[in-house]
Amino acid sequence: MLSISLSIMVVARPVKLGSSFKTLAPVTVAAGGPLDAVLQSIAANHDVAVSTVLLSWAIGRNVVPITTTSKRDRMAECLAAVSLKLSTQEVEEITKVGLQHHFRPWGKRFFSPDGRS
Ligand SMILES: NC(=O)c1ccc[n+]([C@@H]2O[C@H](COP(=O)([O-])OP(=O)(O)OC[C@H]3O[C@@H](n4cnc5c(N)ncnc54)[C@H](OP(=O)(O)O)[C@@H]3O)[C@@H](O)[C@H]2O)c1
Repeated sequence: MLSISLSIMVVARPVKLGSSFKTLAPVTVAAGGPLDAVLQSIAANHDVAVSTVLLSWAIGRNVVPITTTSKRDRMAECLAAVSLKLSTQEVEEITKVGLQHHFRPWGKRFFSPDGRS
């Protein structure tokens, strides 16, 4: 079985970088939220996969997304995020709509449902 973790970093100039796990959560563990339609629309406009859009969104916010896949096709989708250029408007829309839906897949015993700490 192919299983490779990817860390994609794009640095054109000195910038502060963060990193993220679970960047693909909106399509993996949290599908069904308000981002579904937004992501599908943007992905269709660029003729790429939704996961490519999510990874590109992270890169556009100076965040290095750490992801993984066991599938060769998805590996290509991940790598396509490096060259995909989302518009500022698209990045802002994903951020705005994503903030409307809080989802934490773990720690339910320790955090209140709306807790964002
Ligand atoms: N999350 C954490 O807190 C954490 C902590 C420490 C280390 N890590 C490591 O960081 C790496 C990334 O983990 P993550 O959980 O943060 O990953 P993620 O990027 O949110 O999601 C990756 C997972 O999503 C699946 N996937 C990818 N595209 C998909 C699609 N279009 N539809 C449905 N499923 C899709 C992949 O499965 P397929 O194999 O089927 O493509 C893979 O299992 C892993 O190596 C993990 O061990 C994570």
